[in-house]
Amino acid sequence: MAIILAIESSCDETAVAITKDGKLLSNVVSTQIEVHRKYGGVMPEIASRLHAENIGAVLKEAIEQANIKLEDVDAFAVTRGPGLIGALHVGLQAAKTLAMLYKKPLIPVHHLTGHIYANEYVDELQFPLLAVVVSGGNSELVIMKDHLQFEVIGETRDDAIGECYDKVARVLGLPYPGGLPIDQNAKLGQHTYDLPTPLKGEHTYDLSYSGLKTNVINLVHNLEQRGEKVNVPDMCRSFQDVAIGMVVDRTIKAVEEFAVKEVILAGGVSANSYLRSRMKEEMDKRNIKIVIPPLWCTTDNAAMIAKVAEHLYERQVFADLSLGADPNWFIEDYLKFEN
Ligand code: KG4
Repeated sequence: MAIILAIESSCDETAVAITKDGKLLSNVVSTQIEVHRKYGGVMPEIASRLHAENIGAVLKEAIEQANIKLEDVDAFAVTRGPGLIGALHVGLQAAKTLAMLYKKPLIPVHHLTGHIYANEYVDELQFPLLAVVVSGGNSELVIMKDHLQFEVIGETRDDAIGECYDKVARVLGLPYPGGLPIDQNAKLGQHTYDLPTPLKGEHTYDLSYSGLKTNVINLVHNLEQRGEKVNVPDMCRSFQDVAIGMVVDRTIKAVEEFAVKEVILAGGVSANSYLRSRMKEEMDKRNIKIVIPPLWCTTDNAAMIAKVAEHLYERQVFADLSLGADPNWFIEDYLKFEN
């Protein structure tokens, strides 16, 4: 193993982490969430600018906390995609500069594999496994038969689940990001609103959130036009039952068909309390191990990028300094990246 310094800047967190022989020495995250909250979503241009402003300080703090010198680092890892192009470039330029300066390998990391491998801070991965990746930008079911092998068996046909949570929260007057306030409100409400389940009756591992979002928006506007007050906790509960229900339904079908040993949750929406409890209940019934990431792993950080990088370092998956960011990098093309 080795000392790895990892950088993450794909969305609205500027993060640097350092690991030594698999042990986390430092994990510094600077979040921009307060700035973007004013706009009700991430403003890409502002995100890039803030990454550029913050990266130096975050890097310095991570090195100080780890109590190492940059010369000691064996490889520099960075999120190459998917994400916001301008934001990705900031981390990538920093990593490339460090790799060049210290003549060390550059390791390109796929952001979603980071969310999946964050679970290695909980336990070793057991294959075959099903990773349920649910975040603000992606929603997919991924089968892994071994390390660094990713097969997407289902994905959203339109919006990501987190994006849907954020839009529904906005129409209900709840703050951004909407996941947590909806989760909290849902605990206080009842399932009283009738929201159709997308793709019902289809045998598919795909998900769909755009119709559900539109249904909530239309229902809220209709109620308002009739002068009726929307019961926010009830709407949150009704929405969450359908949104999470779809993920749980696909997971149950997939564990049976693919005979997986474990299910792991990954991404920002894996912080959802209802998803966590429903998954645990269903997997316990089937005697399938479920790994639920600690909350600090569900938001973006570079510790998860370093975890994947350890595996890539062992296999010597390195990129040269002409590497570009790939905002749409497909997880199955992971080891086939081009410089
Ligand atoms: O995209 P993502 O993995 O993180 C970042 O890129 O920072 O996760 C952010 C998404 C947002 O859409 C947010 O609303 C959602 O995760 N989220 C949640 C919860 N906490 C965060 N969604 C549902 N329930 C939660 N408790």
